[in-house]
Amino acid sequence: MSSEDMKKRILSGIQPSGSFTLGNYIGAIRNWAALQDQFDCLYMVADLHALTVRQVPAQLRAHTCEAVSMLLAAGIDPKQSILFVQSHVPAHTQLNWILCCNCQFGELSRMTQFKDKSLSHPDNVNGGLFTYPALMAADILVYNADLVPVGQDQTQHLELARTVANRFNNLYSPTFHLPEGYITKEGAKIMSLADPSKKMSKSDPNVNSFVLMNDDKDTIIRKFKRAVTDSEGTVRYDVENKAGISNLMSIYHVFTGKDMSEIENEFSGRGYADFKAAVGEVVSDALAPIQGEYTKYMNDKAYLNEVLKDGAEKASRIADRMVSKVYKKVGLYQM
Ligand code: TYM
Repeated sequence: MSSEDMKKRILSGIQPSGSFTLGNYIGAIRNWAALQDQFDCLYMVADLHALTVRQVPAQLRAHTCEAVSMLLAAGIDPKQSILFVQSHVPAHTQLNWILCCNCQFGELSRMTQFKDKSLSHPDNVNGGLFTYPALMAADILVYNADLVPVGQDQTQHLELARTVANRFNNLYSPTFHLPEGYITKEGAKIMSLADPSKKMSKSDPNVNSFVLMNDDKDTIIRKFKRAVTDSEGTVRYDVENKAGISNLMSIYHVFTGKDMSEIENEFSGRGYADFKAAVGEVVSDALAPIQGEYTKYMNDKAYLNEVLKDGAEKASRIADRMVSKVYKKVGLYQM
């Protein structure tokens, strides 16, 4: 067997929710690009997951193209990795049903994302929102992925994927690998700039609470300038007592590679204004080339379609085999 065949497999996904946030970039996308050499990677735009909240159809289509363009711009190389849209690979929904039948009501009820989204969309607590983690488990297990690079907010879903995989293996016979999370220490949870006790999220009504990967330099600098900190005036890493400054330090660390004590030394005796300006600069410098590439891809629909067609074919080839195997194991009659 060649070393190529022995590479571990990675699967991850992101919802097409308009422009991605800096949290999405730091927690997930930048790692996706970095892992491509070492692993056999599949990356997908999770458009079916997006349907669990109400969507304007034309916007969902547009956001899907934007998401694919942004992933390409951020360095996902379709020659190296399989890049596809979830709804283009029917095997995900096929396995989803089998896993739904192997997930308990109690398990799904305990998911914090379900509880949070039920509260934020009380008029639309639909079945898809409830069974969302079973579809996410199907996304991962249909490729027998070994590793799943995600931010911290996805760990509970990942744990459920392992539970269901294990249950299935015990009930039928060994079928699924138990997937592990790949969660980096720094940046697994980027916090809101307006309220550092909350995760940075695009659904926050306060636009100053998040930085978008598409924000221009002035906007990025302005948002960091307004970031909520504390009254101590010292750049010091202390997540408990200085959540705002610690969050900015994590972001600065990601883009400069400097560790926390180096950052503390660099800004010792200087005020928060200097530090916030420096964070804004490194972030906008890092995003500028990605934004340039993004525009290029957005203007080349033919290329996007070519990538997605190829991605869906390659992904389906792997996923269809798993669905056949699972259908057989659970006793569905095959001709
Ligand atoms: P989604 O679209 O909400 O987020 C995509 C990725 O970004 C990470 N992330 C963050 N990381 C750090 N700090 C933040 N503030 C932050 N906000 C978001 C998320 O952890 C995620 O890794 N259910 C998934 C999509 C999905 C998926 C999958 C992921 C569907 N199927 C299979 C992995 C494997 C979701 O809604 O991510």
